[in-house]
Amino acid sequence: SSTLGAAAADSGRYFGTAVAAGRLGDSTYSTILDREFNMITPENEMKWDTTEPSRGNFNFGPGDQIVGHATAHGQRMRGHTLVWHSQLPAWVSGIRDANTLRTVMNNHITTVMNHYKGKIYAWDVVNEAFADGSTQHRSSVFQDVLGNGFIEEAFRTARAVDPSAKLCYNDYNIENWSDAKTQGVYTMVRDFKSRGVPIDCVGFQSHFGTGGPPSSFQTTLANFAALGVDVQITELDIAQASPTAYANTVQACMNVPRCTGITVWGIRDSDSWRSGENPLLFSGNGSKKPAYDAVLSTL
Ligand code: XIL
Repeated sequence: SSTLGAAAADSGRYFGTAVAAGRLGDSTYSTILDREFNMITPENEMKWDTTEPSRGNFNFGPGDQIVGHATAHGQRMRGHTLVWHSQLPAWVSGIRDANTLRTVMNNHITTVMNHYKGKIYAWDVVNEAFADGSTQHRSSVFQDVLGNGFIEEAFRTARAVDPSAKLCYNDYNIENWSDAKTQGVYTMVRDFKSRGVPIDCVGFQSHFGTGGPPSSFQTTLANFAALGVDVQITELDIAQASPTAYANTVQACMNVPRCTGITVWGIRDSDSWRSGENPLLFSGNGSKKPAYDAVLSTL
């Protein structure tokens, strides 16, 4: 196949990108988007600071713009993200009462998921809840006020709202099997599966340095998949975009049957949150970089 999306589909996978609503009017951008990608993650438009900037006041305009584009072009959507300590409005991070915060969190999940019900392939229900270099949760308003059970509560709420969406836990620095953080997330997923807490997938952000993935990446994907969840590469970018580093990342997914798709975190280097590191598959003028060819031939 001659595009990323079609090549991924040949093995039953998808190939996605993060999209910024504000760039959809750029024809170079949208031409590449609609030619190459069959899954879309909103880069910022479904985060709490956009979707519920004040309590009970929901704003779905920017997210709807992206969903509208995806629907018109036959692309599926990953929802990103419902519960995260970052890009969280101060009105939430300032809550100190557990009953209030529980109500607020569950209402946010319920209202956002209901709005997009039937239109989202997978939701990142909880994002980045674990601390770097540790097996434990990081400090956040959710952790500090609600305690360890907030992740389980979020997943149970999400399942009740849209049973057709896959429910994912998403994080970074969980790609290396021997890292404590990887082990912490693995232990949580194993516990959820053993107790029937609804979780369907784990997202590995995969924001890599110049060397690309750790050598254990395929092992990590396979070990999580063996727990009975899908695994996905959800925010891939690699400093300087070495073709070998990209090929190694894609090959790790291809070698794991339950690795169901790959999403890069932007289209052109100039669109990237790490634009200084030129980490993506297309250059600023929209031309394919060597890493593009390496990815296409590995899919
Ligand atoms: C980033 C976006 O790319 C930026 O535009 C924004 O300013 C900050 O967030 N982990 C995530 C993503 O889960 O949502 C982040 O996206 C990158 C790190």
